[in-house]
Amino acid sequence: MKLSAVIALVATACTSANIIFPFVQPTCNHESVGWTGCLRGQQCLEDNTCVPTYATSSFESRDTTPRTDGRCGSDFSGATCAPKGAYGGCCSKYGHCGKTLDHCLVSNGCQSGCTEPAGTTAAPLPTTAPASVAGPGVSNSEPVIGPLSSTAAGDGATGPVTTDGTCGASKGGTMYGFCGKTSAHCGEGCQSGPCSQAPISPAPSAAPAPQNSNPGSFRTVGQSGVPAMHAALLPNGRVVFLDKLSNGQYAYSAEYDPESNTYTPLAYKTNAFCSGGSFLSNGTVLNVGGNAPLTWLDDTVGNGFQGIRYLTRSSSDASQDGENWNEPGNQLNTARWYPTLQTMPDGSIFVASGSLNGLNPTVLANNNPTYEILSAEGVTLGQSITMQLLVKAQPYYMYPFIHLLPDGTLFVFVSKSSETFDVANQKTTKSFPDLPGDYRTYPNAGGSVMLPLSAQNNWTPEVMICGGGAYQDITSPTDPSCGRIAPLVPNAAWEMDAMPEGRGMVEAVLLPDGTVLWVNGAQKGAEGFNLATDPAFEVLIYNPKATLGQRWTTGASSTIPRLYHSVALLLLDGTLMIAGSNPDQMPVVAPDVDPQGFHTEFAVEIYTPPYLSGDNANRRPTAITLSKLDIETGVSTFTISFTAPGNAQKVQVALYHGGFVTHAVHMSHRMLFLETQGWKAGATEQTITVAGPPNNNVAPPGPYVVYVVVDGVPGVGQFVMVS
Ligand SMILES: *[C@@H]1O[C@H](CO)[C@@H](O)[C@H](O)[C@H]1NC(C)=O
Repeated sequence: MKLSAVIALVATACTSANIIFPFVQPTCNHESVGWTGCLRGQQCLEDNTCVPTYATSSFESRDTTPRTDGRCGSDFSGATCAPKGAYGGCCSKYGHCGKTLDHCLVSNGCQSGCTEPAGTTAAPLPTTAPASVAGPGVSNSEPVIGPLSSTAAGDGATGPVTTDGTCGASKGGTMYGFCGKTSAHCGEGCQSGPCSQAPISPAPSAAPAPQNSNPGSFRTVGQSGVPAMHAALLPNGRVVFLDKLSNGQYAYSAEYDPESNTYTPLAYKTNAFCSGGSFLSNGTVLNVGGNAPLTWLDDTVGNGFQGIRYLTRSSSDASQDGENWNEPGNQLNTARWYPTLQTMPDGSIFVASGSLNGLNPTVLANNNPTYEILSAEGVTLGQSITMQLLVKAQPYYMYPFIHLLPDGTLFVFVSKSSETFDVANQKTTKSFPDLPGDYRTYPNAGGSVMLPLSAQNNWTPEVMICGGGAYQDITSPTDPSCGRIAPLVPNAAWEMDAMPEGRGMVEAVLLPDGTVLWVNGAQKGAEGFNLATDPAFEVLIYNPKATLGQRWTTGASSTIPRLYHSVALLLLDGTLMIAGSNPDQMPVVAPDVDPQGFHTEFAVEIYTPPYLSGDNANRRPTAITLSKLDIETGVSTFTISFTAPGNAQKVQVALYHGGFVTHAVHMSHRMLFLETQGWKAGATEQTITVAGPPNNNVAPPGPYVVYVVVDGVPGVGQFVMVS
């Protein structure tokens, strides 16, 4: 049955107008008992299509009249909660079976055999977990620090309270009252005197950029199935998305196939809302941390604050495709909501920061400014070690930007401050001047990227950070400026540049031709629910090799806002996938439900970059064959044979790792240009020899994609394993 026919069928079964069905999905098995292949909260019809159990776009418009026949949900649902079924005997108003009071109290909307007199009016859907369900000191929602304080300047202040968000309201600290010596505490606009590390010059303001002569294009290709808050490209070429839940239809994760533009639902056991991730050296995706149990909505999803989840896919064996997240019960040493991960040279995983409970980060007792190490198998070594850079950056200490540098140290950036950190010796090896401008990390995140490493410049790393904002409120300005630094060079300093406009939640994606796309986000506001407006629709293209002042051009524009909880990542075919945007605490699909008129966005878009647009589409290298798919660092060379287009002049081989994407942070993302020999300019049949990466500091072990790039145009990538 065609999608449109399903929609027509469902629509006639309901009386409500303006129905939106984000989850109509064509394949399930209605004869299967239990797992049918539908997302949780969906049911499988006799024609093997999945439709939402509740076919309405808002909770309020659903029929919540208690039933007397033990069935669940509205008339549309046929599900029953057998008294001794796996999930208990009551039906919640959302159509789920369970034993909790949320399922069984009439006043909570129970549909079946309940403990209160029939006829009691159902309570409206809670927008946050009741405290009694979330548990003491634990929140399902997200704290908002709020706009600038208007309270009088504190003891140490020498001037009036600033309004630019740069500096403190009390006791000479930041606007949130924290004391310190960094420019986050006492830079431009500080009320309490100069600062030892105050930037010498202010950040540049927005600078216009010309349109790229080949701006690329957007198209919408499918639906993400769940709100796409987290994403990663899997070794099978598909993309995994994760989020909390969706509009009362309990979906948590989905595996999206960019070839067919369909998805398969995936289950997990613990709440991965606002978690972090990276890859194990054997290619398995690791996802850690998250939020409180969702028992108030769905008692199958447990506490995720210390959760560790694994997802394994193979580039050569399809048998694991569609398998759920694996949670054998391993736990983080400490609770982490908003952690950043980086895979290390020995395959261990560095996990930094996070909130202990999802509560107000201006209260230090809620914060976890520490890191812990997981083994190469993704099991904690059992120690959480305080990290001073995170301590002093509070409350701007979560989701730090972290990049593994080719000397084996980590570049860590949070708030406005950065350093290199030697993990083995647990010490800071270098501190950098603060980056001028606004806050750059959560809740005013910009984006950060390590520019392509290459054999030609002896793997000298450069890190670039753009965007950000002044404070966590919808009135916050966003920062147009960017800083670029080569952290391993003596006296490393920030070189400043500017985007055409201020942007928060802007994220950087490396392209195999060496340019960087900066996409998504908003021109006003901050991270948090309903805290941003003025969506940034335009792709910004950055050419790191151009002269300062000429590096930016603008690409095509989308028409779909990509605000909080949106993602962008490169696919095997060299196009960019853009998905997500969920600025609402509870995902809403109807545009008018959100105070700013935004809604949970399920549309998946593809941005075709300049290198595959116009004539370039006909100049891709084809028939690419690698002599081996396992690449050992240090010793390995391999050959690639391929067919080049006529009169081609130049080849590059990019070794690409997309990492794990969430909240504008691309964890473990990196790209290397490898050394090549044997290119024959002008020839169509080519066999080149490629030298693998010199060591695991340059390329930590794990899955990478090899792209052959001829005259700037990439062929379709292929997964390899680097060890
Ligand atoms: C990788 O290691 C993890 C943790 O030991 C394991 O769960 C997973 O199955 C492994 N993946 C592969 C591809 O062997």
